[in-house]
Formats: sequence, structure tokens, C-alpha cells
Amino acid sequence: MNPPPIRVVILISGRGSNMQAIIDQARGGQLPVTVEAVISNTPDAPGLERAREAGLRPHIIDDRDYPSRAAFEHALIEQIDRYAPHLVVLAGFMRILGKPLVNHYAGRMMNIHPSLLPAFPGLNTHARVLASGVKEHGASVHFVTPEVDGGPLIVQARVPVLDGDTEQVLAERVLKEEHRIYPLAVRWFAEGRLQIKNGAVLLDGERRPEQGLVEQGAGQNRTGTAQ
Ligand code: GAR
Repeated sequence: MNPPPIRVVILISGRGSNMQAIIDQARGGQLPVTVEAVISNTPDAPGLERAREAGLRPHIIDDRDYPSRAAFEHALIEQIDRYAPHLVVLAGFMRILGKPLVNHYAGRMMNIHPSLLPAFPGLNTHARVLASGVKEHGASVHFVTPEVDGGPLIVQARVPVLDGDTEQVLAERVLKEEHRIYPLAVRWFAEGRLQIKNGAVLLDGERRPEQGLVEQGAGQNRTGTAQ
């Protein structure tokens, strides 16, 4: 039997392609969620138009309109909670969130980050990966905790770093995986299959590899052999 849909609120700051991936799967019936609202902290985020095109009326809560982070986050919580969401999805939301807000949504707020956390937290991950010379990169979905990019990992996707990669090419390779694993993590949550135990995520009651539940990137297996 299909689980009843859960209510989701998505927070964005920019392009909104991860938001789009979730909306598309929800609309396509692959995700048991209803996207109740989209909120952006930047008034000119291109993702706002995407949300409108999907028939949603997005909200703008511009952090620059508030005298303090606490006041901004208070307004954010108020707006989010109007929708009584089961899950809050940060999809390229580029504000660091304070403890009161994060604790308010403990265990029901997810983020996607373009690196194989705990490697490369923070900004400009693709450039830093290229500069470092590592041969593997990827994306991580995690529950949000007060430690920035430090919450329990739900799922990761790995991609190779190839000779000649530019930042843009690498970013695109990672983004493709983001669009695959973020809806997947949301689906697991919606199906009630995720649990946080002793700071780690369990899927169906089990803990899988050391750093989250690693999903193979589709374009990754270049040798054609099973990995
Ligand atoms: C994505 O690559 C996401 O992983 C990253 O911002 C991009 C947003 O793209 N998030 C972070 O860096 C958070 N620290 P999108 O707006 O097209 O989804």
C-alpha cells in the first residue's frame, strides 16, 4: 500500500534545480510528498520562477530585511510552520542557520551539499576538489544539525574527478547525482524508513557504509564492471 503523502516545504536561494527535481518526482507520482511551499531568502532567485511555473506561489523572506539573524529566522519559522510540514528541505539554501531554528526542525530538516562530506564542507567545493587533486568527488544529503555540513549522512553519491575537468564540468557531473539522490532521500523519509540513532542514520533499521548510505553514481562506472 502506498504511504500517505507527507507535507514538504522547500527553501532555496538560487537556481532551484534540486527543488525542481523533487517537485517533478512528486508531480510524477514517484514521491509520496506534496510540496506545500517554496521559500527563498533572495528575491531574485531563478528558482522562484520555476516554483511559479510549477503552480506554487513562492514566498520571499529576504534576510536583509531583518535587523538580526534571530529576527530573520523567527520570520522563517513562522512562515514554514504555517504549512505544518513533516519535512523541510534545504535545496541550495545558502544561509547558515542558527541553533534555535535547527533544533526546532531536528530530525525533519535535510540539506544537500556538493561534496562527499565530511570532506569539503563549506563553499566552492568543486574548485577546492580540483585544486586538491583528489580523484573522487560527489554529493551528500544529510539531516541538518547546528554543526554546518556536519549532520548525520543519509545518502551520498560518488563521481570520479577526471583529467581535464573544469569546475563547471565537475559541477554538472555532481549536480546530476544530486538530482538523483535528493528525491531518493526524501522518499525514504516519506516512507518512514529513516531513523537517527546515536548520531547516525539508519535505513530500514540498518546502518550502511561508514559515511552514510553510499549510492553508486550512474555515470561513474567507466570500466563497465560491477563495483
Ligand atoms: C547545489 O549544488 C547544492 O548542492 C549546493 O548549491 C547548489 C544549489 O543548486 N548547496 C550548497 O552548497 C549548500 N552548502 P540548485 O539551486 O540548482 O539546487
